[in-house]
Amino acid sequence: MYKSTGIHSPEPLPLETDRLILRPWRACDREPFAAMSSDPEVMAYLLPFASPEAVDTWIARQQAHLATHGFCLWAIESRDTGEFMGAAGLLRIGYQAHFAPAVEVGWRLARRFWGKGYAPEAASAAINFGFDRLGLQEIVANTVPNNSNSRRVMEKLGMSYDPADDFDHPLVPADSPLRRQVLYRLPRARWTTAVR
Ligand SMILES: CC(C)(COP(=O)(O)OP(=O)(O)OC[C@H]1O[C@@H](n2cnc3c(N)ncnc32)[C@H](O)[C@@H]1OP(=O)(O)O)[C@@H](O)C(=O)NCCC(=O)NCCS
Repeated sequence: MYKSTGIHSPEPLPLETDRLILRPWRACDREPFAAMSSDPEVMAYLLPFASPEAVDTWIARQQAHLATHGFCLWAIESRDTGEFMGAAGLLRIGYQAHFAPAVEVGWRLARRFWGKGYAPEAASAAINFGFDRLGLQEIVANTVPNNSNSRRVMEKLGMSYDPADDFDHPLVPADSPLRRQVLYRLPRARWTTAVR
């Protein structure tokens, strides 16, 4: 269980993998992030941004979460090309739920980067950070039942699913098809060097 001290460790950022850099958000990320956020395929299972300002608010929320807790959904940059690719990282569950308090791992990529294993690669770095640097005992992930790509990433990461954990997301409108969510769990003990 994650207990925030409100004081984050200053290190280590950015997180680097073979192909990716997970780093704090920069002003230049705004345009490519807004573009991917207007792609219906990317947003099929995510709550849409109601306005251009909502995109800015989302990025500002990541920056504030990073400043407070030392982690967030970081911007993903290609090590090869420097291109902005999407977002991945860790967030505190900020709502009431049967599994909270908890930290979740999350991801979203621009469409042209799908299918190359980037999300599992980025998530692995974030999970290493969560277990090694934050000392978490468990990391969770959630999505809607139909988001098979995201569920596949959870499976690749060795996360496990129990239908008894299904829940209604309190921040999603009651009449939205996105309200019902599945939950995957990754206990620290199951995170082996095999997937690092
Ligand atoms: C979920 C997401 C991040 C997966 O990232 P990724 O880097 O493509 O992940 P992977 O390469 O490991 O592919 C995962 C699965 O997606 C599917 N997939 C792969 N390439 C695909 C493509 N070009 N088009 C559609 N689906 C594809 C496959 O089922 C794949 O599983 P497999 O490797 O066993 O074949 C990405 O699909 C995405 O950004 N989706 C929209 C945002 C979203 O829903 N985020 C999650 C919110 S909970």
